[in-house]
Amino acid sequence: MKIDMHAHFFPRVTREEAAALDAPHAPWLHVEDDGRRGQIMVADKPFRPVYQALWDPAVRIAEMDEQGVDVQVVCATPILFGYAYDGQRTATWSRRMNDLALAHCSHDPDRLKALAQVPLQDLDLSCREASRAKADGHVGVQIGNHLGKRDLDDQHLVDFLTHCARDGIPVLVHPWDMMTDGRMKKWMLPWLVAMPAETQLGILSLILSGAFERIPASLKLCFAHGGGSFAFLLGRAENAWHCRDIIREDCPRPPSSYVDRFSVDSAVFDQRALRLLVEVMGVERIMLGSDYPFPLGEQSIGALVAGSPWLDESQKAKIRAGNAQAFFGIGAPREAAGFAQPGAAAT
Ligand code: CO
Repeated sequence: MKIDMHAHFFPRVTREEAAALDAPHAPWLHVEDDGRRGQIMVADKPFRPVYQALWDPAVRIAEMDEQGVDVQVVCATPILFGYAYDGQRTATWSRRMNDLALAHCSHDPDRLKALAQVPLQDLDLSCREASRAKADGHVGVQIGNHLGKRDLDDQHLVDFLTHCARDGIPVLVHPWDMMTDGRMKKWMLPWLVAMPAETQLGILSLILSGAFERIPASLKLCFAHGGGSFAFLLGRAENAWHCRDIIREDCPRPPSSYVDRFSVDSAVFDQRALRLLVEVMGVERIMLGSDYPFPLGEQSIGALVAGSPWLDESQKAKIRAGNAQAFFGIGAPREAAGFAQPGAAAT
């Protein structure tokens, strides 16, 4: 059994539909005449070249079969979040994107699961949409790691996370809206440098603010990309906590004591990084996540975990599927690759 819990979709939103959110900046999808290639657009500017698996669930399932992926949890491409706009307008947009996510997954609902997006700039509307989406069949929500100048420790975001804890809604935090100007302009540096830092910032803001002391421990929280720079630099934060009182001001316990409050995905691309991640986070808090179908994702989904020389089979099984089953409450798919077809058991 293999569950890929970090994968993206982008529905076939036309420019006209995107204009209802914001004409100059809302994202939409341009699909080439062959139907196979496309471009995420922002107004008339190309944002990212993409291909059919992003919007066509039949292609997604065919590639999952090739990769031996039984279940994929899909979420919005972060450019769809719409946090900068009027809350009510983004609530309508989020609901539409969430309905389109479920429509995508309805192609094979046992194997495709969706995370919802929410109008995070409005607490009431985002809590309402998260709970509505859960009732509709989404297995959790995805949020960005910040809301403009506010990090995850902002009371507004802590209240949203608390709502998710109380309503049993798992949360994936995805880095987005990274620093892109100036020295970051070239070589996709925002994705290589700023994204891991954004994720580390999100985690440390929850730890050092003491927010984890207030958010119910029942919250199921996961950070993308192996938690970014967090695991590698936890020792730096730990040393700082011991040596500088301003770092202990709001955080009563050493940073390392909070690693049991969240999970991370496995998208770290290097055996040494995976080993460190397992040692820092514990094997129960790592879930297979590929960032499919983007070029910066794991191209052979699960190969890093499968090829690990230091993980035993039971540890690999937890990372590959067991942890995500528990986190999202996902059962085994009835018709997934390697499983008996319906009716087969009766013969
Ligand atoms: Co991603």
